[in-house]
Amino acid sequence: MILVAQISDTHFDLGARNAERAERVMAFLADLRRRPDAILVTGDITDSGKSDQYAEARMALDADIPVYALPGNHDDRAAFRETLLGEPASTAPINHAHRVGNLTVALLDSSIPGESGGRLTEQTYDWLRGVLAAAPADAPILLALHHPPAHLFSPVIDTISLADPEKFAEVVAADERIVGVLTGHAHSAAVTTFAGRPLLVAPSTASVLGGEWELELPDRVMDYAPDPALALHVIDENHRMTTHFRTVAMGGWISAPPA
Ligand SMILES: [Fe+2]
Ligand SMILES: [Fe+2]
Repeated sequence: MILVAQISDTHFDLGARNAERAERVMAFLADLRRRPDAILVTGDITDSGKSDQYAEARMALDADIPVYALPGNHDDRAAFRETLLGEPASTAPINHAHRVGNLTVALLDSSIPGESGGRLTEQTYDWLRGVLAAAPADAPILLALHHPPAHLFSPVIDTISLADPEKFAEVVAADERIVGVLTGHAHSAAVTTFAGRPLLVAPSTASVLGGEWELELPDRVMDYAPDPALALHVIDENHRMTTHFRTVAMGGWISAPPA
């Protein structure tokens, strides 16, 4: 089996709170008896795309297993590349693919500079077609991007989700090796289907964004009270994905029920 951890929407902002929460989640992953094979961070790494926020993220998200991050609407491509990835600054989409065992993980940049909503550019579609063409014939593929390509009954996120989801769905539906699509952005652990595959939306480590049934403008939008959470995806030998969600108590693991 391949175990892929997913954390999202860390929103590093140079404040202690969001950094401590992300660090606590990374410590949880470091303590697992069976370490993940990779950790994915699905966007909104920083709160406002500043270089020093990426420097903070780079330290906090450092691990002795691979950590792969993609940008969200709160990120800045040039600073992301330069400070988080250590690459030359550029405003081109940040698309990259990695092999984790026999699993191909493609991380797509759905951000649009200066906008909250998402879109995959022609450049990104061309890149994705190339990744799919180069991936092993009988091995699983996981796609990750920031913006969910489906209606989530989240009044804030549904207005700034992925544009043209039908176009993305065509690509996903046409490739049976794709075992699932992972996103962030919604600040809410959510599960649905997309193009006949599982669509998993990771919780944020920073906050929870209300659904239609709880959100009340203007002051009941984000809930900062819940502990940080993450997703753990198992891809088995039958290319089936099973996902568990975990909340990581800021106080640490308690091994017996409180009296
Ligand atoms: Fe976010
Ligand atoms: Fe976002």
